Amino acid sequence: MEIIETPAAMHRWAETARGRGETIAFVPTMGFLHEGHLTLMREGRKRAARLASSLFVNPTQFGPHEDFSRYPRNFDRDCELMRTVPVDVLFAPAAEAMYPPGSQTWVEATEVTQGLCGGHRPGHFRGVTTVVAKLFNIVKPHVALFGEKDFQQLRAIQRMVSDLNFDLEIVPVATVRERDGLAMSSRNAYLSPAERERALALSRALEAAGRSVAEGARNAAQLACAARFVLERTPGVEIEYVEAVDAESLRPIERFDRPVVVAIAARVGATRLIDNMVFTPRG
Ligand code: PAJ
Repeated sequence: MEIIETPAAMHRWAETARGRGETIAFVPTMGFLHEGHLTLMREGRKRAARLASSLFVNPTQFGPHEDFSRYPRNFDRDCELMRTVPVDVLFAPAAEAMYPPGSQTWVEATEVTQGLCGGHRPGHFRGVTTVVAKLFNIVKPHVALFGEKDFQQLRAIQRMVSDLNFDLEIVPVATVRERDGLAMSSRNAYLSPAERERALALSRALEAAGRSVAEGARNAAQLACAARFVLERTPGVEIEYVEAVDAESLRPIERFDRPVVVAIAARVGATRLIDNMVFTPRG
């Protein structure tokens, strides 16, 4: 696996691949890899001749009181895991290479980032879409893969790609879970054993919402209520939001006859976790 640290060298790699007529798949990450990241990479491997990934803990998507400085990092282990896929090239820039002094241009998908996490993490999605736009320009992929685990992020990036005419395909990948249902996340590393047990309330709450859809519920508020009930019964889980919104636009809805996403953000101890599931009504 080649490791590249500067945008200029990454451009050269991408131009060489494209010059040979090779397609490029791309999986951007912030590292501390788990099976979720690796699933995106294996899917990317199948979809193009060359597979690129990036590892960059992007400072502009963290708020001033968030976990940027203590975000888990293990570069050597991440490289080992990427080699097993195998990833062809890893772009791992320093912060100064991505944001040299004088940087002042932002990319923002406005409407789709207003609710859910957008309401609780001001500036977060602006940081995400800005860094992803930069990474797309640097890595020049034909396809890029994103997890449904970060559902609002996926929708913001799809919106950006469409609105700004990026010439690439976005491939969504289903959330990878532990055997007991917990959605895989680098932030799970923060959880104590007792907190990890409590964190199961998120996936259980979403499953409860799913059962109410299966039983015929067609009202978004009913789904949110079913999920909230499970979370509220679990001590040590502090709800930030529980919402059921249109799975395409992420706009609030009342009755639904189209796919709906139930999304949760909650604190378990000091750790903020998110999870979601999409439900499609039958008949
Ligand atoms: P990070 O949290 O490292 O996630 C990188 C990619 O892995 C994202 O597309 C995310 O949705 C996906 N992912 C994480 N956990 C997953 C799981 N359990 N199942 C499936 N996919 C999962 O998301 C980011 O980094 C950053 O915001 C980034 C896009 C790299 C921009 O900085």
